[in-house]
Amino acid sequence: MNMNFILRGLGRYAPERVLSNADLEKIVDTSDEWITTRTGIQRRHVVADGENASDMAAEAARMALANADMDVSELTHIVCATFTPDSVIPSCACRIQEKLGIKGQMCIDVSAACSGFLYALQTARGYLLLEPDAKVLVVSTEVISRRINWEDRTTCVLFGDASGAAIMTAGEESDRPRVLDVMLEADGTLGDLLTVNGGGSAYAYKKDEPVGNEFFVQMEGREIFKHAVRNMVGISERLLERNGLAKSEVDVLLPHQANYRIIDAVGRKFDIPEEKVFSNIHEYGNTSAASVPLALSEAWDTGFIKPGNLVLIPTFGGGFTWGAGLIRF
Ligand code: UT7
Repeated sequence: MNMNFILRGLGRYAPERVLSNADLEKIVDTSDEWITTRTGIQRRHVVADGENASDMAAEAARMALANADMDVSELTHIVCATFTPDSVIPSCACRIQEKLGIKGQMCIDVSAACSGFLYALQTARGYLLLEPDAKVLVVSTEVISRRINWEDRTTCVLFGDASGAAIMTAGEESDRPRVLDVMLEADGTLGDLLTVNGGGSAYAYKKDEPVGNEFFVQMEGREIFKHAVRNMVGISERLLERNGLAKSEVDVLLPHQANYRIIDAVGRKFDIPEEKVFSNIHEYGNTSAASVPLALSEAWDTGFIKPGNLVLIPTFGGGFTWGAGLIRF
């Protein structure tokens, strides 16, 4: 592939309302000590009443467009990764288009849970190969707070709401980050270990029937933990090998933010010192598909990622889906 895939701009958005671990102590039988030591999470952001996934995505998109020095009218495609769209129909991408005040672009949602951003990025690369003049908005957005059983301490402490966005083009600009490669895999036989079944056609509700537990995120945390570390490490090794790169050439490791212990375990397997591993999980919790672009945008803006850095991005999520991406900033 001779084409350069340029990240023209990055953006992010998190709702204003914050729930601390101390706030959760008042809701379920948990403690700041348990949450902090088991996950690294201290706070999470939660949408306001009436605020939806597409509203947050539009905010992140506007920031990415400003960052890319582009007008919204230049967009040709909107690819949205989410498992918490505003509605089943229309797609979240169509809702985002409406909120951005534009028409005509191709709009599509991608469903790959916490690996969603890399899956969407790879989809965008496919469109750019077909249409080299395309300007693709790749946006991840999640309102997980509305798909959580707030009485279940094993899940409600882990997640948060947020959006992250990137503008992708093909071109020559050398001063912008370039997506070098993306590798994606999945194993549907393990799907039942992490589910949000309600709303799917296999779990049809009858009119006026209350929703059950299947409406909310349900997961086997300990099992997922093992698969997450193994697959994030494995696919990252294969991606580096495919690109003729050594582990020592990675400047920044920026993994999906599900649990600081997972992030730390992946960093150790790669012999990457802690100061080269980016994490903002303490502030946002697990924001699923939004976690990677949220982290990328923050790490770039704060100078954690420096020009020229090679950034390795391993992800893992429901499905199971996992992936790894390489970006040269
Ligand atoms: O985003 C991609 C998908 N998700 C993930 O990658 C998540 C992967 N898994 C994890 O991050 C961890 O497994 C968790 C953070 C979910 C759980 O941590 P753990 O160390 O695996 O704990 P555990 O599930 O084995 O539970 C240990 C104990 C249990 O009590 P007993 O049976 O030992 O008495 C739980 O009931 O901790 C208890 N527990 C809690 N205690 C206080 C579970 N949740 C809580 C809580 N507060 N919120």
